[in-house]
Amino acid sequence: MVILKCKILSLWTISFLMLTPVNSERTKDKMYEPIVGAVACFRRLNGTHQFGCSSHRSGNVGVIHIVQGEEDLDWLLHDAPAEPYTAVIRPEMFTRKVMLQFKHSDNVNGVILIHNSTSAPTNFTHEDTCPNRYSGLSSFKSQLCTDQSPWNPHGTGLMQVDWGFPIFYVKDPDSIQKISDCFHKHNTKLENHLIQSLCAIETSAYMYAAVDSKTCIRRSTMVTNFNPVRFCDPLGDRNVWSTLFPLSREPQENASYIVVAAQMDAASMFDGVTPGARSPVTGIVTLLTTASILSSMFKNHTELHSKNVLFLLLNGEAYDYVGSSRLAWDMVRKAFPISHDQLFAFIELGQLKPSSRKVYIHKYSEKLKNFVEIMKKEGEKVNLEFVESIAATFPPASFQIFSKHNKELPGVIFADFDTQFSNNYYHSIFDTAAAINYKYANGSELKNDSIQMQLFNISTALANSLAIAIANGSINRSGMEGNSNITAAVVDELLHCYLESSDCPIFRAATSPGRRASSSPPALYVGVSVWQNVATTLTAQALAYLTGDALNRSEVECHPSSEDDFLYQYLWIKGPVTSSNNSEQGVCYRSTYNYTIAVSPAFEIEDYDWASGVYSTWTESIWREFSVRIFLRPSRQHEIATLSAGIVVLVVSFIVVHFTTSRSNTLFCNTAGSNTDTRL
Ligand SMILES: *[C@@H]1O[C@H](CO)[C@@H](O)[C@H](O)[C@H]1NC(C)=O
Ligand SMILES: *[C@@H]1O[C@H](CO)[C@@H](O)[C@H](O)[C@H]1NC(C)=O
Ligand SMILES: *[C@@H]1O[C@H](CO)[C@@H](O)[C@H](O)[C@H]1NC(C)=O
Ligand SMILES: *[C@@H]1O[C@H](CO)[C@@H](O)[C@H](O)[C@H]1NC(C)=O
Ligand SMILES: *[C@@H]1O[C@H](CO)[C@@H](O)[C@H](O)[C@H]1NC(C)=O
Ligand SMILES: *[C@@H]1O[C@H](CO)[C@@H](O)[C@H](O)[C@H]1NC(C)=O
Ligand SMILES: *[C@@H]1O[C@H](CO)[C@@H](O)[C@H](O)[C@H]1NC(C)=O
Ligand SMILES: *[C@@H]1O[C@H](CO)[C@@H](O)[C@H](O)[C@H]1NC(C)=O
Ligand SMILES: *[C@@H]1O[C@H](CO)[C@@H](O)[C@H](O)[C@H]1NC(C)=O
Ligand SMILES: *[C@@H]1O[C@H](CO)[C@@H](O)[C@H](O)[C@H]1NC(C)=O
Ligand SMILES: *[C@@H]1O[C@H](CO)[C@@H](O)[C@H](O)[C@H]1NC(C)=O
Ligand SMILES: *[C@@H]1O[C@H](CO)[C@@H](O)[C@H](O)[C@H]1NC(C)=O
Repeated sequence: MVILKCKILSLWTISFLMLTPVNSERTKDKMYEPIVGAVACFRRLNGTHQFGCSSHRSGNVGVIHIVQGEEDLDWLLHDAPAEPYTAVIRPEMFTRKVMLQFKHSDNVNGVILIHNSTSAPTNFTHEDTCPNRYSGLSSFKSQLCTDQSPWNPHGTGLMQVDWGFPIFYVKDPDSIQKISDCFHKHNTKLENHLIQSLCAIETSAYMYAAVDSKTCIRRSTMVTNFNPVRFCDPLGDRNVWSTLFPLSREPQENASYIVVAAQMDAASMFDGVTPGARSPVTGIVTLLTTASILSSMFKNHTELHSKNVLFLLLNGEAYDYVGSSRLAWDMVRKAFPISHDQLFAFIELGQLKPSSRKVYIHKYSEKLKNFVEIMKKEGEKVNLEFVESIAATFPPASFQIFSKHNKELPGVIFADFDTQFSNNYYHSIFDTAAAINYKYANGSELKNDSIQMQLFNISTALANSLAIAIANGSINRSGMEGNSNITAAVVDELLHCYLESSDCPIFRAATSPGRRASSSPPALYVGVSVWQNVATTLTAQALAYLTGDALNRSEVECHPSSEDDFLYQYLWIKGPVTSSNNSEQGVCYRSTYNYTIAVSPAFEIEDYDWASGVYSTWTESIWREFSVRIFLRPSRQHEIATLSAGIVVLVVSFIVVHFTTSRSNTLFCNTAGSNTDTRL
């Protein structure tokens, strides 16, 4: 035991304490101000590559620089002295060219996209020019889409790049103001960047997964301890299906189905920002409306059919057709009650926002000539012109997957584009209600040329054509048409649900009593398979509500009896709000709707070859949190001074320690002595 009592040591302690104020001042300067409402780009992986963004584990710190134009960009990339910087840009600058310059520059370690107003750029999409380039029919039929004649001409492919830094999207006006104020107050004197304190931003979005899905899934399933760590999750959720007439218990060999399908998910670079108005919402809404019209037409004519209709809402299609490839795979291995050879035709509803009366038909086989003729006639009745596309190839569509399994299957896609997408915002943050000119009418009269009327007219024409194909002229159609009470108000309400608020009349009617939907629109990103997507549940229940029958049963009786448990699902929901019944009572609905799993077969097949490209291999990285905050970073000179002081202290302390150890005999007075000067 050694008792310190000698003066030299005390002196050293004092001198150390005198140096510490440098430190405390720095901590004071680092007053963090959080930026709320910032959404992050995150990391996704396919079988062989990684894409998206990640920060360092502790976050990236960069000096804020709002890039106003080419000159600014040049300065930032080549002359900026106080690197690293975080570039703050507006949508005009969010182009592939600029972003790749940031990626390859050592000066930039993060990007913040700010969008200040409701006006969007004239065109912008995060997607590839050839969406789903490596899957579908293109895997064995080359040149379905080329960079010379791409389907998505405005595609930037920003979603398919592995950025080495975090990218955040900020829409909140107050947050934008905060960043802008801080920048203008501290950072605009470019020549002073080395000598003054600068406004800096810390962006934190660390991703646990890396390299590719193969590596990540292997690491996640490795049983090294009793507490397995997940690094990524497969993309996936559920598909929704229903049939016009219930299936029978015994498999019907001679049953024949016309598939009416639409994709259910959108994509974007940023977490939670997938408005998807034109793709997929117009397709979903048209499908739901068609199903609703058809089922009301056939309510009292169940005995009169030679064919059935299978309504399919496919999920995860933006990521190499997750949902359709799973369903097609399930059909092959008899895990789905309908098989490939029972499919008579495949009708897909693509992006539908016709700019004129024209709706394009992309036809894959001459076998549907009759149907197309009927469709043209029915179209004329509602002032629509169905024209056959002159495109030489077939657009990206879920049908491609079913066509791979059954080459004879005839298919058509109805869409608003001919040889290229007319959607300038395909799979992007700007594919909003405003982009399709949607305004909620809320019961007031709809204009003849509104999007609501357009989708309703398409649904009507399609429902009538399907009725003809199903019934084969054997029933009195004038009687049936009168049966349908569905009006264009349904389209208006559905669009309101998907684009403006989940807390809307149709979703409210289709959820169980006591449940309240959120006031934001449903998130249309497929998400990961371990979480059930709310949008899927709402869509399925809306389908049940719009096509099912209200029964006079109580909640406890609201389940299938032993005879019809294969035919129907029963759902206890609020039902329509009428003047007599606007309380939280429930109604029992009976419908043929059901779910199937939409997780790629790649994750089910043992020893799947991840590089083969047969099935979708997309996974999403796990992350803990996203955060963005700004603070004042001391000037470079200040930092250098602090560092120098630190080094001096270090060196001095080494010397002192060396000195102390070498002279310990003289310094530490051996034992005993008085206690008076042991403390300072
Ligand atoms: C993953 O994406 C890259 C680039 O987009 C592509 O070259 C590769 O074929 C994809 N891998 C799989 C297994 O789909
Ligand atoms: C936001 O937009 C307004 C005009 O709409 C403009 O005056 C202001 O400078 C913008 N702020 C930022 C940070 O872009
Ligand atoms: C797409 O947007 C870019 C940048 O805003 C613009 O330069 C280009 O002209 C636009 N292209 C079309 C076809 O509108
Ligand atoms: C449908 O049939 C039921 C009974 O079978 C009948 O009560 C109802 O009025 C019919 N609906 C229409 C629209 O014909
Ligand atoms: C299908 O076959 C069954 C018997 O095998 C027959 O009763 C039924 O009418 C057939 N359905 C159609 C639509 O041909
Ligand atoms: C729609 O109209 C109803 C009644 O007229 C009103 O209570 C409701 O707030 C309106 N909804 C919206 C979103 O304007
Ligand atoms: C809509 O079209 C119908 C006929 O197709 C016409 O009678 C009606 O006046 C039109 N309404 C508007 C608002 O243009
Ligand atoms: C929809 O059909 C109605 C008549 O049924 C017609 O007046 C209207 O112009 C059509 N609108 C569109 C956009 O096709
Ligand atoms: C319609 O019915 C006729 C006989 O009435 C039959 O010859 C024809 O094949 C049927 N068409 C379809 C598409 O089922
Ligand atoms: C078809 O139904 C309508 C109305 O229900 C009726 O007036 C008409 O006579 C029927 N036609 C035939 C051929 O049964
Ligand atoms: C159509 O509406 C009327 C009155 O609102 C109702 O009596 C009838 O049952 C409805 N028909 C169908 C098929 O829903
Ligand atoms: C719904 O799907 C589940 C699981 O796939 C199945 O067990 C059930 O029989 C299906 N119900 C109907 C009515 O198809």
